[in-house]
Amino acid sequence: MGNRPSMQQPRPDPRAWTRFDTPEALEALGARIAGELRAGEALCLYGALGAGKTTLARGLVRALLGAPDAEVPSPTFTLVQTYEAEGLTLSHFDLYRLKRPEEAFELGLDEALDVGAAVIEWSERLEGALPPNRLDLRLTAEPPPGAEHAGDGHAGDGRWGQARGMGHWTAERTEAVMAGAITE
Ligand SMILES: Nc1ncnc2c1ncn2[C@@H]1O[C@H](COP(=O)(O)OP(=O)(O)O)[C@@H](O)[C@H]1O
Ligand SMILES: [Mg+2]
Repeated sequence: MGNRPSMQQPRPDPRAWTRFDTPEALEALGARIAGELRAGEALCLYGALGAGKTTLARGLVRALLGAPDAEVPSPTFTLVQTYEAEGLTLSHFDLYRLKRPEEAFELGLDEALDVGAAVIEWSERLEGALPPNRLDLRLTAEPPPGAEHAGDGHAGDGRWGQARGMGHWTAERTEAVMAGAITE
């Protein structure tokens, strides 16, 4: 009987999958996150080899440095690469080779978050030792069940991402960076 049955706009599902058609679209998400990421915060990336984690991190680093063509190698062998940007020190970790979560602290993860921000590939390796103030972002090349566009002939290219903010990364901040990715 109420006069205002559905006055509210439907809110985007925070666990929805967003499609990224090209590496450039993933880099653009990285650039939007660069504008939001603060010292003490981490961008935690999850997903298999080739899911697009380094591509996204590259977009983030390039935006922070203001250098669109900067080389941003995957820290597969060095395990961590640190960038001094104006206003923010960013450490880029690749934890693929980690055997125990504690090794991340031996690599300097705590110190990195004391002095700046971190982007962490293979955050799965941290298990229970995840930084409290973080944006969790899962990437996949496999169309996730129920994902928009999953069955429309795009199979084989493109990536999907699903984000969730924790601690200082509120739902509002998370939605703000992810919403820019919706192109329709
Ligand atoms: N949205 C996309 N669509 C198609 N290919 C992509 C996309 N994003 C990244 N790639 C490609 O996938 C490959 C693996 O990406 P990479 O970022 O190195 O993955 P990861 O770090 O997760 O192992 C790269 O060759 C990259 O160009
Ligand atoms: Mg990588």
